[in-house]
Amino acid sequence: MSAATHTPPSSVDSSADVPASFPADFLFGVATSSFQIEGATHVDGRGESIWDRFCRQPGAISDGSNGDIACEHFDRLEQDLDLIASLGVNCYRFSLAWPRIQPTGRGEWNAAGLGFYERLVDGLLARGIKPVATLYHWDLPQALQDQQGGWAARDTVHRFVDYARHVQKHLGDRLYALSTHNEPWCTATLGHDTGVHAPGLRDRALAAQVSHHLLLSHGLAMQAMRAEGGCKNLGIVLNMGPSVPATTHPADIAAARLADAKSRRWYSDPLFKGEYPAEALADLGAAAPKIEAGDMAAMRAPMDHLGINYYTRYVVNADGKPWSAREHGLPASDMDWEVYPEGLTDILCRMHADYPDMPPLYITENGGAFPDQTLVDGHVHDLDRLDYLRTHIAATAEARRRGVRVDGYMVWSLMDNFEWGFGYSKRFGIVHVDYETQARTLKASALWYQDLLRQWRAQG
Ligand code: FCB
Repeated sequence: MSAATHTPPSSVDSSADVPASFPADFLFGVATSSFQIEGATHVDGRGESIWDRFCRQPGAISDGSNGDIACEHFDRLEQDLDLIASLGVNCYRFSLAWPRIQPTGRGEWNAAGLGFYERLVDGLLARGIKPVATLYHWDLPQALQDQQGGWAARDTVHRFVDYARHVQKHLGDRLYALSTHNEPWCTATLGHDTGVHAPGLRDRALAAQVSHHLLLSHGLAMQAMRAEGGCKNLGIVLNMGPSVPATTHPADIAAARLADAKSRRWYSDPLFKGEYPAEALADLGAAAPKIEAGDMAAMRAPMDHLGINYYTRYVVNADGKPWSAREHGLPASDMDWEVYPEGLTDILCRMHADYPDMPPLYITENGGAFPDQTLVDGHVHDLDRLDYLRTHIAATAEARRRGVRVDGYMVWSLMDNFEWGFGYSKRFGIVHVDYETQARTLKASALWYQDLLRQWRAQG
């Protein structure tokens, strides 16, 4: 193995006094998203989403499942709010289902759908927990897909802005933070290029155009929400990890740089510099998006936070061959993602170096799927997940020590849930869900997190 991939795991000092590294106003939370937990897809006037439709495509979801029932969170709201409170977190990250609030993505608003999120937000506030909301975690109203090709159409940008303004108007003043998109890279690339996410399309140029529309919708929604008033802590959530060369060969180094430009910087450069990375545009060639005058300036709307979702690093081979941590004898999760906490420190420091004007960062997702479904005497001994969280929280503390302003950390996920193309076969929760009975059981990782938060509060 080359020196490039074999970073010694020394940069994360997990013996440091972790609770003392975080100030009393740090956000410690857990995260979920609407489609992955709510169920009740036909209740109270909710419209169809592109994920409802995608789940019906044979072969789209590995276990043939869908989101109709999921974790029954919609029906178990009060109990789940108590569960969240029992962890001792001070914030909860969730997303709003656009088709609940506006069933066809244009025109009429559905007060009953919004009412669910009002109960959720009021229930959090009553328990002293800060609501951290995301407007779009991938469940587009199907009608927009059918009528105009969803995010491929520039008009969907304006539909999203209307939706953002409506949420800001009715819920904004009760939200601690509000993000526009969750992981636009996934919407564009997984949904429109590789086709493993809804709407399941495979067209590189279309995916590039979708990414442009997502970024534009973010920028224009920021402006509209600012004008509306309400929540003043506005931002977006991006997924990222360091792209590193598989070897020290110059071709691998160049490939890793390009991969970084095409994934991370494709989203962060427009937000903070108002331009796409030149090398990524050149790589797209004729597949580059059509950009109208004013688009790039709109994307650069000032933000109050940037959410970062981190799971792993990306090891890049110039020949495009996938790289497997397991084959290299390195630890990996049930998703086959390498467990690499140093990558979290690295990417936080990289962002800090690349964008001096960046707003405070929240780690809006971090966690691991591990094959821990067996309940032993009513307990789930998920020591691998516990260790994952422990080392990644230490990696966050390390980034703070190096001067990066990270103001929050949210575990993905509160509970086991519908993991997109993998259905219910991958478990990310710190709370176990028995899908037969819907019983929730705190895993060892949840008990550990509870204890960490107790220690942290005690010293504040
Ligand atoms: C992220 C998604 C989240 C969850 C985790 C494992 O990409 O935002 O919904 O699926 O991965």
